[in-house]
Amino acid sequence: MALLNGSAKTMAEDVYHPAPEIVQSAYIPDYDAVHNEALADLPAFWGSIAAENFEWYEQWHTVLDDSNPPFFKWYVGAKTNIVHNALDRHMKTAARNKAALIFEGEPGDTKIYTYQQLNYEVCKFASVLRALGVGKGDRVTIYMGRIPQLMMAMLACAKIGAIHSVVYGGFSTEALHSRIEDSASKVLITCDGAWLRGKTVDLKDIADEAVQRAGTIQNVVVVKRTGQEVQMVAGRDHWYHELMALPIADPKATTEVMDAEDPLFILYTSGTTGKPKAILHTHGGYMVGTATTHKWVFDIRPEDVWWCAADPGWITGHSYIVYAPLINGATSIMYEGAPTFPYPDRWWQIVAKYGVTILYTAPTAIRGFMRFGDSWPSRHDLSSLRLLGSVGEPINPEAWKWYHRVIGKEKCPIMDTWWQTETGNFMITPLPSVALKPGSATRGFPGVDLDVVDEDGHPVAPNEEGFLVIKRPWPAMLRTLYKDPDRYVEAYWSRYQEQGWYLPGDSAKKDEDGYIWVIGRIDDVIKVSGYRLGTAEIESALVSHSTVAESAVIGVPDELKGNVVHAFCILKQGVEPSEKLQMALRDHVGHEMGPIAKPAVVNLVDSLPKTRSGKIMRRVLRAQTLGQEVGDLSTLAD
Ligand code: PRX
Repeated sequence: MALLNGSAKTMAEDVYHPAPEIVQSAYIPDYDAVHNEALADLPAFWGSIAAENFEWYEQWHTVLDDSNPPFFKWYVGAKTNIVHNALDRHMKTAARNKAALIFEGEPGDTKIYTYQQLNYEVCKFASVLRALGVGKGDRVTIYMGRIPQLMMAMLACAKIGAIHSVVYGGFSTEALHSRIEDSASKVLITCDGAWLRGKTVDLKDIADEAVQRAGTIQNVVVVKRTGQEVQMVAGRDHWYHELMALPIADPKATTEVMDAEDPLFILYTSGTTGKPKAILHTHGGYMVGTATTHKWVFDIRPEDVWWCAADPGWITGHSYIVYAPLINGATSIMYEGAPTFPYPDRWWQIVAKYGVTILYTAPTAIRGFMRFGDSWPSRHDLSSLRLLGSVGEPINPEAWKWYHRVIGKEKCPIMDTWWQTETGNFMITPLPSVALKPGSATRGFPGVDLDVVDEDGHPVAPNEEGFLVIKRPWPAMLRTLYKDPDRYVEAYWSRYQEQGWYLPGDSAKKDEDGYIWVIGRIDDVIKVSGYRLGTAEIESALVSHSTVAESAVIGVPDELKGNVVHAFCILKQGVEPSEKLQMALRDHVGHEMGPIAKPAVVNLVDSLPKTRSGKIMRRVLRAQTLGQEVGDLSTLAD
């Protein structure tokens, strides 16, 4: 795995101290004091935060139940609904008339929803879902572009106690099919199409194929976005706007009373082997964790305009576009399209137009903007910005410094947040009051007990590489893998079973100041432009092509995307290798998985390096591709 951070030994001039006025006004001016207080009594810390900042229908009797690790429970006995805190309670305050969501469409159309208007739409759609027979515990798959109805669909599900499973709109047929089938969803919510770079992506067509393969879906709700021609299956498919015009779309929908530990959503993410993992999050702990991290790390104030430029289809969007900003009563931006369309200053135009105060994005986007030079952002007034954020992969110091200088005008601290689909919220992150080192996500959020250790669990020496571990539970942690508790235990808790530590699957270094430098994945997960892809899913897409007998996929470092996918395929007997076939295989992965999974290179080979037990040695392929030492080959079969 390449070390993207360069040397972990930082130099004195690479420390950025926050301005005194930022420290003074921060929610947490003294990180160490609060962190130590939290670690001294985690239940007391998370109990008082939950009591002071959120509404509960009924109080918990136990903050943390750790009697059956790793199946931890938080706020046991409490009743709530995350939508009660995200929407319902704002109807009683001045927030009702405030912009909750500012939507900017790729073609330039805009729409602003106040909290009142958003709640109205969510209530109506919640009633529609109930009328379609969706109830507590039912799964609903959502497959849409980045439009307000995506957020409304998620909130409507949560409101009625249904479990949403959002599949990123950039995924394609097989990825969608397997996720529908695994969750056994009975309703799919989708769009006719989505805008991307001035063209349309045929979401409904992809959805049709996936629904046909899956067979669990009884109703498909289709939002009209692009207006393109689509096939509507009688009895199964319904236009969203037609349902919303019927009397069944009752704006007086009640919010389901949920147990704090009831499932809120599942979100599929890539794992080391086999099919994607269905990460399960719950109403209570996830609500407390996401909203608190959002408020403290990004210093959320009533006057802020928050822009998390991720997609709601990933955890970043779930936590920090949909739930946390609404719970905190913030105003959010949602932009539908590509960052550089039609010109490389589209984002900067949006920042200036709406007076965005906080921008949260991924290193790959920053590197993409860097390529176009300083003149594009410099054309726009970015003076409203006061904080910046980064997520998804390690940010290289050059990108950090460009972001800081050109976008933040050297006055905006950068919050480099390390976390995962599994963790639900930021885990390693600065606070605005903390000194920054470009390329380091700094230290654990208050109460996050972590370390970098060796195989045996001993802390490694400063600046030595080791495994990142999290030693104690936190409220927004995943509770299990949906329908697969054994895999949950095996994937995250078996390596350090004795110690009872969570293994995120990342390697890292800790410097002499206790700052963490995340290096990258230790498993076969590939981060392409910050998107998390599993080798196993791409490989099975490749072997589903009629010409491929066997395949292996690796991640190769790339300056812009962080990593790109390289594939190695053994063709079936009698199939002639050709450049045309290589292209066809790339396109096939695009069709099955989605464009982000397309290999940059497809190598047609005669054999693959394997262990004697038949496991593909991807590390050998990686070393060969990068021209590095292959290392120990004693387990190689041939
Ligand atoms: O390898 C880490 C990387 O992204 C992984 C989690 O991916 P996902 O579940 O898709 O969630 C991404 C958004 C939260 C981690 O195991 N990662 C995420 N943020 C950072 C990071 N690596 C380094 N620095 C980060 N700030």
